[in-house]
Formats: sequence, structure tokens, C-alpha cells
Amino acid sequence: MSALAPVFAQYPFEVEHAEGVWLHSRDGRRVLDLYGGHAVAALGYGHPGWTRALQTQAAACQFQSNAVPMAVRERAGARLLAFAGGGYDSVFFVNSGAEANENALKMAFRMTARPQIAAVEGAFHGRTAAAGAVTWGAREKWHAYPRTPFDVAWIPRRETAAIAQHVTDDTAAVIVEPVQGVGGAFDMGTEFLAALRRRCDEVGALLIFDEVQCGMGRSGRAFAADLYGVRPDMITTAKALGNGFPCAALLMAPRVTAAVKMETLGTTFGGGPMACAAIEAVIEAIESEDLLGNVRRVSDYMRAQCRVGPVTGFQGAGLLLGLRLSRPAQEVQAALLGRDILTGTSADPQVLRLLPPYVLREAHVDLLKEALAAL
Ligand SMILES: Cc1ncc(COP(=O)(O)O)c(C=O)c1O
Repeated sequence: MSALAPVFAQYPFEVEHAEGVWLHSRDGRRVLDLYGGHAVAALGYGHPGWTRALQTQAAACQFQSNAVPMAVRERAGARLLAFAGGGYDSVFFVNSGAEANENALKMAFRMTARPQIAAVEGAFHGRTAAAGAVTWGAREKWHAYPRTPFDVAWIPRRETAAIAQHVTDDTAAVIVEPVQGVGGAFDMGTEFLAALRRRCDEVGALLIFDEVQCGMGRSGRAFAADLYGVRPDMITTAKALGNGFPCAALLMAPRVTAAVKMETLGTTFGGGPMACAAIEAVIEAIESEDLLGNVRRVSDYMRAQCRVGPVTGFQGAGLLLGLRLSRPAQEVQAALLGRDILTGTSADPQVLRLLPPYVLREAHVDLLKEALAAL
């Protein structure tokens, strides 16, 4: 019997090692990974620059707290702000997506002294108390705390006309995934996101983009904020940020940075030198290998080629792609795994969710197409 808490359903194969976009199982199978460890393995497996960066940092100094200045932390912060392309002037490094969202929400409450957050139906923001409060359905399924830490107003997805009624003078912030991940690779679109921005400005609320899953290049732009041309006050990001080294970040626009006071945010591991070395290596690889260009190209190729077998359409952005199906996604996922292709499902039972490494090539998509056509 396993020593691990029985909370995760287990796939029927055990990964022993991996390289590029391929997982090798203990029983000798080679599986094409179109799920990337839940959107984490952006550079694929065994990326030489990322591996070297961690080895070098481990040998130099594996940890010092945020109170001790380290060049690698400064470099990672500056590199991430530059990667975001302007508009943000400080980064707070933490450990997980949920923690980044907790801190973003905390900043919004501190800045506005208002009682409420507006979130979007279908959203997933994490499993901690505040992040869980703004996660759609969490209260019924797993939140478990006797009460949520604040009131939440729920905006229906893409319903621009409903925004004004849910975002009011009581709203501290709106939190939204520009492309929902768990919700089914569902893109919110420019009109809805721009309307959220306008309404936040009207009522004096902050706008938070949760780019934990869709950020760090997955949309084909540095952040999905660029894709939709809407600038939030805060961006949270994680997953691809460390390519598997646990880390997350909260990017703040100048007016948010101005509200940060000494010792009002904190963390032990966030911004550790190993995490920062990983972040620096991830951004270096994305930029020097033109991985944003590759994400856009391969995503377009997938859309053009893979409307076969049970696939009736596509949603999402870049390599956070939803394949709309004529059959239940769980069934298709199991059948593809039987053909050595790992994919994901989502809260939408008709959507197969793909979150592959950014180094995926057209030849890999051809393998998916062939497998889908044979289903
Ligand atoms: C959009 C989004 N936000 C937040 C989280 C929570 O991140 P973590 O599991 O690192 O706390 C996730 C995780 O799937 C996510 O997809």
C-alpha cells in the first residue's frame, strides 16, 4: 500500500525518466506528453540550460532568505519584469499559484478597504482559503472551512452585460483567468476583459489576472494580458515559471507597488536562489529559442490539422488548447493514453485539455492527429 494520502487518481503508468516531450515508463513505454505535468514542464524534460542553471546555483549557494541580498534574485525579478514588457515595477516571489493569488487579494483589500471580490464562473484559483473562496464550485466540493474569508460576486463567463451588477463600490478587486485552465481552456476574449478593466476603473476596484496556467508564454505571448491587449493591476503566475522547480510570482503595477509596506507580505522559500535560477533559465530559453513563436506556430498547426475523429472544434489560446469533442473527454483521454499519448481533461466533460511543453513540434502533432483519426 502507498504511503501517500489517497487524494489523486493514478495514471496506469509510472514515469522513470523523460527527455524533450517524451516520458519513459518503468515498463518500457514511450509516451508523448501533451499535458506537461499540468502546464509546468514548459521547456520539456532535460533542458540543458535549465539543468545547468540549477546545478550551478546548488553548488554556489542553495538558499538564503529574502533578508539577505542575492544577485540571482535581483536578476530573476528584473528579467521577469522585462519579460512582461513594461507596466509592472515590482515582483513578489512566492511558492505556488494559490499563494500568489492570496497575496494579490490581500493587496487589493489593503488598498481599497472594501469587503468583496468579484470572480468569474468556472474559475480555478487554488486550494487555500482565499484562493478557494474565488474558485467556482469549491465551496460545495472541497473548501471545507466554516466560512470564506470575504464575500464573492460571480460574473458569468464572457457576459459583458452582467459585469456592472457584480462589480460595484463594494468590490476590492476582480480576479480572472484570461484563459481559464481547469474551466476547460476557455478564453475570455478581448471584449469581456476590456469591459472588466473599464468597470474596475469606474468603481475604483483592482484588476487581477491569474496567469498561473495561461501565463509565461503559454498563450503564445509573454502573458495573455498582451494577447488581449488589456493591462491588469496585478498578474499572478506560476507553473511554467520554474519548469518544475516550485515557484510563483506576483507582478505589481506601480500603484500597487506604492501600497506595499515593509513586512506586510512574507515568505520563507519564495524568491529562494534555486527558484530564481530556474526562473532566469526559463525566460532565457523562451527568449533565445523563440519558444513564443513556436507556441503560436504549433498551436495554429494543431487547429489546422486535428479536426479529425471525435474533435469538433478548438478553444483556448496557444498551447492551453481545448479540443471540443463529440464524445466524453475522459473516454478519449483513456483511448489516447492507450496509444501512448498523455492528454488532460477539465471541468467541461466534452473538452480534452492540452498543455504540452513549448518545445512541441509539428511532427508530434502529426502523431496526435493519427491517433485521433483512428479513434
Ligand atoms: C489558473 C490557476 N490558478 C491557480 C492555481 C493554483 O496553483 P497551485 O496549485 O500552484 O497553488 C492553478 C492550478 O492549477 C491554476 O490553474
